[in-house]
Amino acid sequence: MSDLKGKSVIISGTGSYTPPKILTNDDLSAIVDTSDEWIRTRTGIRERRIAAEEETTSDMAANAAREAIRNSGLKIEDIGLIVVGTVTPDMPFPNTACFVQKKLGLGKVPAFDIEAACSGFIYAMNVARGLMLVNNIQHALVIGAEKLSSITNWEDRTTCVLFGDGAGAVVLSLDEREDIGILNVQLGADGTETDILCVPGGGSASPYTVETIERSLHKIHMQGNQVFKHAVRVMCQSATEVVEGAGLRTEDVDLVVPHQANTRIIEALATRLNIGMERFKINLDRYGNTSAASIPIALDEAWRNGRIGSGDNVLMVAFGGGLTWAGALVRWP
Ligand code: ACO
Repeated sequence: MSDLKGKSVIISGTGSYTPPKILTNDDLSAIVDTSDEWIRTRTGIRERRIAAEEETTSDMAANAAREAIRNSGLKIEDIGLIVVGTVTPDMPFPNTACFVQKKLGLGKVPAFDIEAACSGFIYAMNVARGLMLVNNIQHALVIGAEKLSSITNWEDRTTCVLFGDGAGAVVLSLDEREDIGILNVQLGADGTETDILCVPGGGSASPYTVETIERSLHKIHMQGNQVFKHAVRVMCQSATEVVEGAGLRTEDVDLVVPHQANTRIIEALATRLNIGMERFKINLDRYGNTSAASIPIALDEAWRNGRIGSGDNVLMVAFGGGLTWAGALVRWP
């Protein structure tokens, strides 16, 4: 739990960007056989944002990053590392972080992506934290950014109602103070469940062919109820472990910023953790599930709305394809 060399890593700034185009549940019911009532009661989602055709994941990531840097009071040239969590990179390679580096006009700092689906932001944050401590990097950008509309099957009502586009970012900074910043992180994965949530085509296992495209294998495939079952269990386990590992109790948590997949999953988590819903940040009604972007977008919104103050213990917890899961306990500076 304690950081190397007696240093801590704090979140010194947050930022987010969501595209202006809104797709409502009613809009969706004109595309597939669904209804606002079904989507709202099963998921809590009312609308989501959809990126413009030419808008890329790295465009959204760079917008969120600029805002996070501005809010940290730093300059772009202070950043020494970029890590992007995403399942929708601009291209299979080069990585999205390299495009972000170019768009920010940043120097030749290390830049790479992490792919852990919806847990990607917390995974990325912990990888960046480790590199900062080991390589003495003063400030890093950690971004979660997704253009999920590009891998959504718009003919599949069981998945297309769930997802949205956007980006969130934080600036991480080394700090000399103790007991502040990222106090504990817990990461996990279960590779026996790779098939319940995946994009089966387009990789080396099933390279693009006319047939894979006709069968929409390059789009999201999900067994929703299986994912739901695992999600509640692993998020609860991860949250408990990360809080206890930080030497705290759930009563000490001021705000929970969960992955924004489904209100029912979050309510089940709240009940199991015995944390009131008023201590949860929820914005999935307006953005849907934005995968790796969901936690940093919600975190930025919570900070801008004055829901996070100095000394507050913020619990982030996520699950996603893999399956992967992750929890982080952060004390705000
Ligand atoms: N509109 C209307 N009816 C629908 C829709 C829709 N959009 N989608 C499914 N249905 C129907 C089904 O066909 C089914 O009909 P049937 O009973 O006649 O067969 C019925 O509704 C119930 O379907 P279920 O799948 O059992 O519905 P459920 O209550 O499980 O809700 C949901 C589905 C919302 C997907 C839920 O399972 C869920 O949220 N799962 C978790 C999903 C999730 O969090 N995914 C994370 C992905 S993040 C990442 O890593 C990218």
